[in-house]
Amino acid sequence: MEIRRFTEPDAEAVSAVVCETVRISNAKDYPQEYVEVLVSQHSPENITERAKQGHMFVACDGERIVGTGTVAPFWGSETERILLTIFVLPEYQGKGIGRSIIETLEQDEYGKRAHRIEIPASLTGVHFYRHLGYDYKDGVTGPENGVMYRLEKRKPVTV
Ligand SMILES: CC(C)(COP(=O)(O)OP(=O)(O)OC[C@H]1O[C@@H](n2cnc3c(N)ncnc32)[C@H](O)[C@@H]1OP(=O)(O)O)[C@@H](O)C(=O)NCCC(=O)NCCS
Repeated sequence: MEIRRFTEPDAEAVSAVVCETVRISNAKDYPQEYVEVLVSQHSPENITERAKQGHMFVACDGERIVGTGTVAPFWGSETERILLTIFVLPEYQGKGIGRSIIETLEQDEYGKRAHRIEIPASLTGVHFYRHLGYDYKDGVTGPENGVMYRLEKRKPVTV
């Protein structure tokens, strides 16, 4: 399994990974209408735009893209980051790929400089992130609008 930086020709494959994962994994926790909203927000064009906001990575099994994740500045901050678009294809889940993606994002130059990393976590992903050391932001343990938890990790700055 290789994790490498996204390039623009990957956009279609990344979109397909996200949409399949949303329709199979997230559909267990969200109503069908919301699933389709999420799918519509992850077209290849949207993925290309998202990649411009930060550093997007892809996890590959040979040539095949099977997972993705992005680390981006949090509202332009130099020391706060946000992790976005974290997805692993259902058939590849439970094999350590999600953990490798998060570690890659945390060790990326953006992640390393951060003293606070925020994650808008799905109902599906919240316990995964909690397991990796992310805590509820401001002690709020419930999801915003019933759909998304706000999690964060604070850490010493590495130079
Ligand atoms: C959440 C997701 C990215 C995790 O990826 P994954 O490759 O299955 O996770 P890993 O196999 O790397 O798991 C890493 C660790 O987290 C734990 N873990 C994984 N999912 C978990 C869950 N739902 N609850 C608790 N722990 C979990 C694993 O047991 C493993 O623990 P270990 O390393 O101590 O043995 C993946 O399941 C996914 O794509 N889900 C649907 C999309 C989604 O909701 N993404 C988040 C959007 S905010």
